Amino acid sequence: MSTSTTFSSVYPLGSRLNERGALEIGGCDTIELARDFGTPAFVVAEDDLRARAQAFLSAGKAAGHNDFHVVFASKAFPCTAVLRLFAEEGLWCDAASAGELHLALNAGFAPERILLHGNAKSESELLMALRNRVGLIVIDNFDEIDRLARLLSEGSVERPRQQVLVRVTPDVRGETHEKISTGQADSKFGFAAARVAEAIERVRAVPGLDLRGIHAHIGSQLLSVDPFERAAREFAKLGDFPVWDLGGGLGVRYTEDQPEPPSIEEYVSTVVTAAHANGLDADSRLMIEPGRSLTANSCVTLYTVEGVKQNVSRWVAVDGGMSDNLRPMLYNARYEAQVADRFGGSTACVLAGKHCESGDVIVRDALLENPKAGDIVVTPVTGAYGFAMANNYNGVPRAPVIFCKDGDARVVLRRETFDDLTARDVR
Ligand code: LLP
Repeated sequence: MSTSTTFSSVYPLGSRLNERGALEIGGCDTIELARDFGTPAFVVAEDDLRARAQAFLSAGKAAGHNDFHVVFASKAFPCTAVLRLFAEEGLWCDAASAGELHLALNAGFAPERILLHGNAKSESELLMALRNRVGLIVIDNFDEIDRLARLLSEGSVERPRQQVLVRVTPDVRGETHEKISTGQADSKFGFAAARVAEAIERVRAVPGLDLRGIHAHIGSQLLSVDPFERAAREFAKLGDFPVWDLGGGLGVRYTEDQPEPPSIEEYVSTVVTAAHANGLDADSRLMIEPGRSLTANSCVTLYTVEGVKQNVSRWVAVDGGMSDNLRPMLYNARYEAQVADRFGGSTACVLAGKHCESGDVIVRDALLENPKAGDIVVTPVTGAYGFAMANNYNGVPRAPVIFCKDGDARVVLRRETFDDLTARDVR
């Protein structure tokens, strides 16, 4: 057995291999977690989430910006316990739909610390945001201005003026997968730079709206800080505003052989420096909206191997797949995998899911140590957009979320049951 004692740095902070060679997350043995809570399961190191939130906040202070705010893009991991933890840590919350707004309010975010996003906000979503007095609505298009103007003039909500940002498409492209790039000119998000002046004028003409500033989100999984500097330069051309929101996008490392992304500190200091260099003074409000970089590395997924077969490849089939992690199928995203108590394998395997299509492959190039039925396999870096995009394909109940800290494990979101699968049926 070639069990190694060190492992990839992409695992949650504080992870280690114990005396038995088993992976521990937050002090909890993953083999015991699999036995106690079943698989597949999302296992989160609570301290990792807190440490990253704190790193963002202290990076803002260290970079010398007085009014700096970190807004958790809740779409990355929309689980109440995760939201509650970030609310406790003093973050704001980005909600991209009424459902995410509901989750954010329910988790304890103060309404004034919530932003409502969306390129296709419905009337009822806008009404919910207005009635709950969210801090900011980020306006995406002219129809939304009209809809807000009508809702406010109809008197269906009584409230002080609603603070808003205008979302700009800065025509800045970051290097990332086409499906998660948003800042390019031909994007479905935001106002084209050439129409921003008109958008601002129209927002200012609505008595119930209070235009505070501008927003841009260039894209996600960005591995360089340049696009943020370019976006700040574009912002400077649009006029003076008391609030700048430069969106999210800082990338993470999924496998140890991928390039290291900028650190949280480097990213925040670049954003702050670029904002100051382009005219935002240190007392204006600067916001960023990280999702992935707050949550991705905090979590691993545990699977049970159901079967191993050899044909052209060695196929290791597990009890989850595209119902708990769509990212390999949607973006060709790469992940690592290990047998949770036999790290450091050398057998080339294809880690396949249980779903009824050939595209259901989680890791095409896994190196596993003699995998066999009943083994627990772990894939790290599943804390962003894994749980979020989970689904019930093939009637597979969605996996639970387990928080681990100092050797204690607690289920913060239970596994779905078969009854959940039929709960919406109307008889
Ligand atoms: N702000 C806005 C307005 C966004 O649209 C997003 C992500 C974020 C912030 C957070 O970006 P992050 O820091 O996580 O890069 N499902 C895809 C990711 C889609 C991202 C959508 N917007 C994936 O699994 O890679």
